[in-house]
Amino acid sequence: MSTLQEKINDTIVDVIDFPKEGIVYKDITPLFLDATLSGEIVDEFVKQAKGKVDVVCGIESRGFLYGIQIAQKLNVPFVLIRKAGKLPPPTINESYDLEYGQATIEINPNYIKEGDRVLIHDDVLATGGTAEACAKLINKCGGKISQFSFIVDLTFLNGKDKLTPFTEEIISLTEY
Ligand code: PRP
Ligand code: MG
Repeated sequence: MSTLQEKINDTIVDVIDFPKEGIVYKDITPLFLDATLSGEIVDEFVKQAKGKVDVVCGIESRGFLYGIQIAQKLNVPFVLIRKAGKLPPPTINESYDLEYGQATIEINPNYIKEGDRVLIHDDVLATGGTAEACAKLINKCGGKISQFSFIVDLTFLNGKDKLTPFTEEIISLTEY
């Protein structure tokens, strides 16, 4: 019997030279073709978050896919953190650096209550810039980060280093 990590590794597809030459892109979309495996992934995230979380925040867009399922199984609210200009007011935002240029993410601050224990969920942890910006956004709203969870951690990019100031609880189901 293979472990969950082995099943995930066997399902994720390496795409060479995407989105540009020299990059090996980890395509997670085949996970969604497998309903049984997707169920096991959600259950594992739920198991690791149970009792520690008042709100799940999913990061647009791939963090929405399992994120809302995790929230529903934990029976807690799901909040969308979106790229700039997508959410109606009221919103607050946080900008962060990309390889070239900047990106901005937004949240409705009324959806997070003072002292809420928040799980930030996304598909992939790469440089950590996106998740770090989300954590700052949650802190601005008065929430505290109780856990980050990702399907994949690209450890050679050291994204975790940006997240440990918020919490030691950084879950990933597989890493490269
Ligand atoms: C990817 C990935 C994470 C983020 C990780 O999203 O889904 O959200 O990048 O990168 P970082 O750790 O270096 O910040 P992307 O912005 O490509 O958008 P998508 O989820 O909408 O496809
Ligand atoms: Mg993303």
